Amino acid sequence: MKTQKLAIIGLGNVGSSVLATAVQTELFAEIVLIDPRNQVAFGEGLDQMHAGGLSSRKNITIYVGSYKDVADADIVIIAATHVYVNEEIPADRQALLTENLPIVHEIMGNISQHTQEAMLIFVTNPADTIIHVAASYNYPKNLLLSTGTMLDSSRLRQLLGQRYHVDPKSVSGYMMGEHGYAAFPALSHLTIGGIAYHELPTYFPELALLTAEEVKEEVVQAAYDVFDAKSGVTNVAVAQSAIDIARCVLLDEKSIYPVSTPMTDDEYGFTEKCAYSVPCILGKNGVEKKLLVTLNDWEKEKLAESVASIQKSIEL
Ligand code: LAC
Repeated sequence: MKTQKLAIIGLGNVGSSVLATAVQTELFAEIVLIDPRNQVAFGEGLDQMHAGGLSSRKNITIYVGSYKDVADADIVIIAATHVYVNEEIPADRQALLTENLPIVHEIMGNISQHTQEAMLIFVTNPADTIIHVAASYNYPKNLLLSTGTMLDSSRLRQLLGQRYHVDPKSVSGYMMGEHGYAAFPALSHLTIGGIAYHELPTYFPELALLTAEEVKEEVVQAAYDVFDAKSGVTNVAVAQSAIDIARCVLLDEKSIYPVSTPMTDDEYGFTEKCAYSVPCILGKNGVEKKLLVTLNDWEKEKLAESVASIQKSIEL
């Protein structure tokens, strides 16, 4: 019987968090770690294996491998990124492109030689440009995505959950567009317990309704609250996002998550080809349907800003 296999490419702060989260989910029997820094991958794997003798842990095989090991992987999570030594990590995700572009070319060149069947989940930044580049390789487009604004969406739900004193999971809504400064909340589709965003003051008269611009700014800033406090690193929530996507695909859950995928002209009508996040139904066939939700004027404007920002980085 075939057991579920995960490959993690890049074992830095994010990759090691992906590994830790993957182990906890008990979805995978086999996890292969791929990193040009073999020692780092070895150390992360061994550290996790050492927890394998504890009663709370399933017996999972974790080992350091190479690209040929993705051939029978069900899921590949790509967290590889340039390692900044004695240099500050750029705060603007777009500024990571110069260094991460050759890394993504190398990864896609290698993966596409060994498999055409694994679900590829990118975490590497800048998320949208990376997906645009990855999509230029011979690989099924439905099996290629970035966590994109899924993470920003969780931050949005957390922010509003805290403000309204409700479980963030009772907030139904998402951020769309660029995973970056131009990400925006699609508040026209957001509900809390079924109550539309603009109707919240009827139920919570003590709380002023934040404008869409205010919500956007708070959510975008939330990444930097972590980034600054953890000296240039955010890793836990993005790792959880990647693993939630993996679970959804493996179990064919058909969950709707905003993820970044290559978009065509007839989707939202931008003639520039690029990738950005819209809510998508995810299942065993990867991205099964993109939900091209109707946007209000402010949201349309913000989506255009997202496309312009991503396009600018593509042209560099
Ligand atoms: C963040 C990084 C992963 O938003 O882009 O936390």
